[in-house]
Amino acid sequence: MRNSLVCLSGFLSLEIQVFQVPEVHATPSSDVTLLCTYNGSGVEEATVGFYKWYRHLVKTELEVSNSNKDFTGRISRVNTDQFINTRSAQITIHNVIPSDTANYYCEVTFIHGGEITGHGPGTLLNVTGSRRSAPRGPEVLR
Ligand SMILES: *[C@@H]1O[C@H](CO)[C@@H](O)[C@H](O)[C@H]1NC(C)=O
Ligand SMILES: *[C@@H]1O[C@H](CO)[C@@H](O)[C@H](O)[C@H]1NC(C)=O
Repeated sequence: MRNSLVCLSGFLSLEIQVFQVPEVHATPSSDVTLLCTYNGSGVEEATVGFYKWYRHLVKTELEVSNSNKDFTGRISRVNTDQFINTRSAQITIHNVIPSDTANYYCEVTFIHGGEITGHGPGTLLNVTGSRRSAPRGPEVLR
């Protein structure tokens, strides 16, 4: 009886807070790291977890990953050790383009008795300006 009560309160104490940078400016073709960290009571004991990022557009939310055609080959993530031990859930988007401009949300999930998920307040990625000469060729015609 007593043991099951202790387990229950331990389970309920797991909370996740997720922190993001409000805004990031970048020029086309650069690599941008979207920072995300988390902490929370009970997170130390949770050993299984993962993170995802979403791009928020007006009508849809798309997961930001290499299997999304908008980002194929352009996403780097931290490995599981870094995610667990340094509490980093950052991604890097390589070779950004103006149409990457959007709000990006970091979502962290831990499995600790049940599944606990938290997400950050969002990062506005703003890709504007051009560092070198204006792009030429097919890109202009899009
Ligand atoms: C989260 O981290 C901050 C700063 O290290 C700390 O003050 C706070 O107590 C932590 N929150 C939890 C719930 O662990
Ligand atoms: C992005 O930055 C430019 C230049 O600072 C600004 O004019 C534009 O409104 C910003 N776009 C968004 C979506 O905030």
